[in-house]
Amino acid sequence: MTSVMFVCLGNICRSPLAEGIFRHKIRHAGLTSRFRIDSAGTGNWHHGKSPDPRSIDVATKYGIDIATQRARQVTRGDFNAFDIILAMDADNLATLRRLAPPTAPARLRLFIETPPQDVPDPYYGGAEGFETVYRIIEEGCSGLLHELHRV
Ligand code: 4NP
Repeated sequence: MTSVMFVCLGNICRSPLAEGIFRHKIRHAGLTSRFRIDSAGTGNWHHGKSPDPRSIDVATKYGIDIATQRARQVTRGDFNAFDIILAMDADNLATLRRLAPPTAPARLRLFIETPPQDVPDPYYGGAEGFETVYRIIEEGCSGLLHELHRV
């Protein structure tokens, strides 16, 4: 069992998409029992909220339902509870490194490690930004599954 957590700022735009897309891929690969998947935000403004409607819409367009997810903030316990914590951008990775207890076992890294690396924050843009973000995250999740399934 590998536990994976996706982290962005608000846990309403990018990381819910990553959670939904990765879960979808895992299910289709018949690997549901091998993974635990979650997402969270480094900020707490949207605690308890559904994903942004624009993220829900773009996921629905590709056959993925993320509407039942609820936002939460990263906790110190997460650094003990997850094997891998994947940040959507360098700012959130820096925040995670500051929050992480020094001896916590979780591996912290960027979700996408090849340039341009950061999944852009689509919150203040239009729907087309969510389409772009969806595609970036979809590709990132394919790479991640390939990487983790070989381990
Ligand atoms: P996310 O997007 O980090 O991908 O969930 C954001 C959502 C909300 C805000 C910023 C980014 N905000 O400033 O409220």
